[in-house]
Amino acid sequence: MAKRFAVVLAAGQGTRMKSKLYKVLHPVMGRPMVQHVITQLKQVQIDEMVTIVGYGAEKVIKEIGNVSEFVTQKEQLGTGHAVQQAETLLLDKNGTTIVVCGDTPLITGETYQALFDHHEKEEAKATILTAKAPDPTGYGRVIRNEGKQVERIVEHKDANHDELLIDEINTGTYCFDNQALFEALKEVSNDNAQGEYYLPDVIEILRNKSEKVSAFLTNDFEETIGINDRVVLAQAEKIMKKRINLEHMRNGVTIIDPDNTYIGPDVQIGQDVTIYPGSIIRGETTIDEDAQIGPHTEISDCVIGKSAVIQQSVLMDSKVGNEVTVGPYAYIRPETVIGHQAKIGHFVELKKSTIGEESKVPHLSYIGDTEIGRNVNVGCGTITVNFDGKDKHKTKIEDDAFIGCNTNLVAPVSIGENAIIAAGSTITKNVPGNALSIARARQTNKEGYASRLKK
Ligand code: UD1
Ligand code: CA
Repeated sequence: MAKRFAVVLAAGQGTRMKSKLYKVLHPVMGRPMVQHVITQLKQVQIDEMVTIVGYGAEKVIKEIGNVSEFVTQKEQLGTGHAVQQAETLLLDKNGTTIVVCGDTPLITGETYQALFDHHEKEEAKATILTAKAPDPTGYGRVIRNEGKQVERIVEHKDANHDELLIDEINTGTYCFDNQALFEALKEVSNDNAQGEYYLPDVIEILRNKSEKVSAFLTNDFEETIGINDRVVLAQAEKIMKKRINLEHMRNGVTIIDPDNTYIGPDVQIGQDVTIYPGSIIRGETTIDEDAQIGPHTEISDCVIGKSAVIQQSVLMDSKVGNEVTVGPYAYIRPETVIGHQAKIGHFVELKKSTIGEESKVPHLSYIGDTEIGRNVNVGCGTITVNFDGKDKHKTKIEDDAFIGCNTNLVAPVSIGENAIIAAGSTITKNVPGNALSIARARQTNKEGYASRLKK
C-alpha cells in the first residue's frame, strides 16, 4: 500500500476565541480539541504525522507528545503557508497526505478512512471532505461546474452573492498526492480578502493543470464543524457529550437524563451501571458493573467498585471498593482508598486516607492522613486533627475499634485494635488495643442550682 502522511494544522492563535488559551488546546468534554483530532487520526494507518505549530507551540507539542513530528510556522500567513512548512519533512515523498485542521475535533477515524478510500479509488490528486451545512456562514464554499465536478473553493469573505448561497462547505480536511500538493503550494498567492495563503487554492491550481480533483461528501455535517469561537465550542461539547453517552447506553449503561450527564472520553463504565442526572464523570475514571452514580455527583480520575452507590458527592483521584456507599454530600479528596462494603455517609470529608473493609464513617467527619483498619466505626462528628499549623501528621485506627461521637484524634496518634474511645474525647496519646479511653472532663450535677440562679 502507498505511504500515508498526515499534516495537522495547529499554529493559529484562534483570535475569535478571545482567550488566553490557544485555540487547539481548548477542551471539548475535557480533552484538548487537537488531541481529539490526533486520537481519531491514529485509528487510520498513518506512516508519518507532522503537526504545524506556532502560537503556544511548546504547550501544543507537550500535549500531543511523540506520536507526531513538529514543524514551526513562525508567522501565521494562512493554511497554505502552514502546510508548506511541512516541506522540510515531506517534500519529494511518495504517497497520500491527509491535511486536517486542529479545530475540527468531531471528525471520526471512520470518516478519515472513508476519505482515504474514496481518494484512492478515484485515483485523484486531491480529494476534499465536504458537507452540506444548514448554515454555511464562515466556511469556504465548494464551487462545482455544470458537470458537478469540483472547480475550486471560495472563502466566505471572498464569495459573491451567488456563491454565498451554496450550502456545500469545505470541512478543511483533504487528501492529496503528496508531491502534487507541494508542487501546487508554490503557486498559491495571498491575493484575497484576508491577504493569506489559502490551502484550498491548491484545488483550483490542480484543476487548471487538468489534474483529477474529487470531493467526498459526508452526510454528517455535525461531525465536521470547525471551532472558531465559543458559541461553536459549546455546540461541539454538546455533540461530543451526546456521542459519548450514546455509546455507553448502547453498551448497557443506564443514563437517566443524557442531556444532563457529562462523561469524558476516557471514562470506562461497566454493564448495568445507572447514572442519575447532573453527574460529571471525567479523567481516567473506571466504574465497575452495577454501580449507581448521582444525582449531582462529580467524579474525576477514580476507580469505582462493583455495586458502589455514590450520591451527591465529589470524588477525586481515589479508589472506591465494591458495594461501598458514599454520600449524600461527601467530599473524597485525592489519594483516598475505600475498602469493600465500607460506608461513607453525609457531610464526610476524606483526604489521603485508607478506610478498611466494612468500616463506617457515617456522618459529619473529617478524616485526613489517616489509616483506618477493618470494621471500624467512626462516630458522628469525629475529627482527625492532622495539622498543627505547620506540619501534617498521621492517625492510625486499627481493626474493630469504636470511636465515639465528637472525638478529636490529635495526630500523630494511634488507636489499637478493638479499642473504644468514649464520646467527646480529645485523644492526644496512643490508645492500646482493647482499652477504653475517656478524655473529657467529668460531669458534675449541682442539685437545685439552676432554679436558684433563675431567681
Ligand atoms: C478554513 C478553510 C475553510 C474551511 C474551514 C473549515 C482556509 C483558507 N479556509 O477556514 O475553507 O471551510 O477551515 O473549518 O483554509 N492555521 C495554521 N496556520 C495559519 C492559519 C491557520 O496553522 O497560518 C490552522 C489553525 O490553527 C486552524 C486551522 O489551520 O487549526 C484552520 O484555520 P482557521 O483560521 O480556523 O480557518 P477557517 O477560517 O476556519
Ligand atoms: Ca476554523
